[in-house]
Amino acid sequence: MKKNIAVGVFLLIVSHLSWAQDVETPEPMALQGIMKKMGQNMGVIAEEISKENWKTIEGVALEIAEHPTPPFSEKIKIMAFAGSNITYFKEYDAITHKTATRLAETARMGQGDEVIELFSELQKSCLACHQMFRESFKTHFY
Ligand code: HEC
Repeated sequence: MKKNIAVGVFLLIVSHLSWAQDVETPEPMALQGIMKKMGQNMGVIAEEISKENWKTIEGVALEIAEHPTPPFSEKIKIMAFAGSNITYFKEYDAITHKTATRLAETARMGQGDEVIELFSELQKSCLACHQMFRESFKTHFY
């Protein structure tokens, strides 16, 4: 009998804990994982520029250009969040894609100066979207 109560109390605590966790730390969006990977890839490019490893840079820039997209269910949520600003969101994503593609092409040709310029342009394309959406995105979803 005592044992049953102890088990009951234990289960109650466990279920309460996991409930509290759900409320306080929601699941990160898939987009966050995609962003983390792009951030790491930018670090790799910076590192490889100083080593003049153009081949590696080409590959990593292509990974950024072809980054995965969130699942359909999350895309719907992002569209609802952005509302009419979704056109900006998509446009920023397209600019990042185009710039990363150009960076890959320049790296393939081993044009160091151009690579550095496009790398800076790529960073600006990330920043532009972050400045417009990151804060409100976090407030909305977390
Ligand atoms: C179309 C808009 C958009 C573009 C373009 C974009 N980002 Fe993001 N990024 C976001 C949003 C929104 C968040 C916040 C996501 C979250 O907190 O779940 C974010 C968050 C991040 C984070 C933080 C992730 C974390 O651990 O919390 C990193 C790193 C990042 N982005 C890197 C990049 C890089 C590098 C690029 C360019 C190569 C880029 N982003 C381009 C929208 C964008």
